[in-house]
Amino acid sequence: MFLEFRIQKKADPRDAVEAICNIEEIHSSIAGINCAIGIRPTIWRTLAPNGIPQVMFDFTSSVNADDCFVILATQRDIWIWISSQSIGQVFDAAVLTINRLEGLAELEEDISGWNYRFNRDLTGFIDESANPTFLEAAKVAIIPDSTPGQGGSVLLFQKWQHDIRPFSQLDSKKQEQIIGRTKVDSTEFAEDLLPKNSHAAITTIEKYYREQPIFRRNVSHGTPSNNETSFIGFTNSQETVHEMLRRMAGVLDGLRDALTFYSMPATGSHYFIPSSDSLMSFATEIEFLITTSPPAS
Ligand code: HEM
Repeated sequence: MFLEFRIQKKADPRDAVEAICNIEEIHSSIAGINCAIGIRPTIWRTLAPNGIPQVMFDFTSSVNADDCFVILATQRDIWIWISSQSIGQVFDAAVLTINRLEGLAELEEDISGWNYRFNRDLTGFIDESANPTFLEAAKVAIIPDSTPGQGGSVLLFQKWQHDIRPFSQLDSKKQEQIIGRTKVDSTEFAEDLLPKNSHAAITTIEKYYREQPIFRRNVSHGTPSNNETSFIGFTNSQETVHEMLRRMAGVLDGLRDALTFYSMPATGSHYFIPSSDSLMSFATEIEFLITTSPPAS
């Protein structure tokens, strides 16, 4: 579940961050919840001036090229990702978090995602194939030691809306030309066969002849008549992920990502994800969040 909040005008952002940092899950290696916390870059900079990369910007300017397509900037202040093997636990943790922020931050959006066909997104294609492996992910997503913001990460979070019907009416070959991979098993196209406007070609960024990956996931949600995806992209280089967005919109050369003719961004924020050590330095009075039921007596 993803929660996004706007800090109230009259509230002190430090109080809101403190309130979240005071929540601690009950310790259990089998029935716990995972929680990632993101804060709007300009807010985190005021709270921890040396605890964030020197250059990190809010997503306040939409990305648009010459045609009418726009990658919307709707920057919010706090992002919380709660996950667990039990949706009930996620629900309880979300309600408690919202209650804890009462009077400090307003909930702007809550999204409950689910796995679709194991690891496919709503286009029907396998997701995450080109992701770095878990062993490599930290190098790509985590800010290295001895640099401002060390142990943290930079997140792009967006909600996308799909126009799935026209996409699914295309034959598989056409869909594959749009994504740039095969549908059945996500095999990469050979370079000379990869359409230049395919999603895979557009989002492949090279610097000094080396690919610059990010660590990402598409989470499906919505209803049968309203198909949505949340895009979560973690990186230690905001420049890289923002460049991907500019390329998807066709800002550089007018070549727009073919996927964007069927899927449209509806929200978009950049968040700084502080390390757990930095978050702990804001905790004043830790309270355990008990989301597991006591055993029946
Ligand atoms: C509705 C939104 C999106 C959908 C459905 C989607 C779907 C996909 C799919 C099916 C693939 C191929 C398999 C894989 O490697 O995961 C892919 C690759 C990729 N996507 Fe997306 N994506 C979306 C948005 C984005 C956004 C917003 C970004 C970046 C800002 C992005 C960056 C990438 C990258 C870097 C790759 C790997 C390309 C490669 O090296 O082959 N995607 N995406």
